[in-house]
Amino acid sequence: ITDTYTLNNGIKIPIVGFGTWQTPDGDIAYKSVKTALSDGYRHIDTAAAYGNEESVGRGIKDSGVDRHDIFLTTKLWNENHGYEATKKAIETSLQKLGTDYVDLYLIHWPNPLTFRDNETEVRAGTWRAMEEIYKDGKARAIGISNFRPRHLESLMQTATIKPAVNQNYLNPSDLQPEIQAANAKYNILNEAYSPLGTGDLLQNPTLQAIAKKYDRSVAQITLRWSLEHGFLPLPKSIHADRIQQNTDLFDFELSIPDMKKIDSLHGSGRLATDPDTAKF
Ligand code: A2P
Repeated sequence: ITDTYTLNNGIKIPIVGFGTWQTPDGDIAYKSVKTALSDGYRHIDTAAAYGNEESVGRGIKDSGVDRHDIFLTTKLWNENHGYEATKKAIETSLQKLGTDYVDLYLIHWPNPLTFRDNETEVRAGTWRAMEEIYKDGKARAIGISNFRPRHLESLMQTATIKPAVNQNYLNPSDLQPEIQAANAKYNILNEAYSPLGTGDLLQNPTLQAIAKKYDRSVAQITLRWSLEHGFLPLPKSIHADRIQQNTDLFDFELSIPDMKKIDSLHGSGRLATDPDTAKF
């Protein structure tokens, strides 16, 4: 998948990424990353909290694909917020991944439970460290994840570098209109985790009917919908046939009425976790 979006700092990002949340560490993560790269994915998304950075890194190394041709994202976990801890956390992630830079480093959640009383101050320190990580060349872009508009606006009070990306739970069951609007204001790219609703959407009758009409799988319809919105979907799979299938999205288009039909599923399934009430 060589098509790219251009981030607000000018760097290019392949428009579909390979998701690894809930991919078990070890052989499964190692093999699925290798399979994805041999199928043409050039964008891998992991996180310290997924516990699979080492296997993902090994998969990349053994894939035979040049590191510089791969866009690699990882994320800062909640317990490592704050200036000092953030600077340490990136080193740990780089070491586990077996690389000296990531393409994108994200704050995983805006306001961990342990910092929720003084979140503004802690988050500002975290972002100051992220900016240094970027300037030091340890991340080619920096961004955020699970940030609602109020967290983004709070970050922007002290930021000298805008986030390039905001990664969210984003799929036909939750279109996140407020987040999309806030991101648009700063030209921040909407990345979509759980683009298939962690699999829930595959049973959706509306999507099944549309899939039948286009002679495509529900996964392909849903990912195509995400792309046509200008989102960057991060489908996860540990099965070779599905990993491959999820790249096969570029020889069909959804009609405007079908896009609207899928949009109307908003609110009918699981919604994103609210960071302000999350228990972590
Ligand atoms: P598996 O990993 O066992 O292949 P999301 O990307 O929204 O998190 O969804 C991931 C879930 O959807 C996983 O359970 C994954 O299963 C499943 N999945 C991913 N791609 C497909 C596909 N093309 N067809 C059916 N199920 C899929």
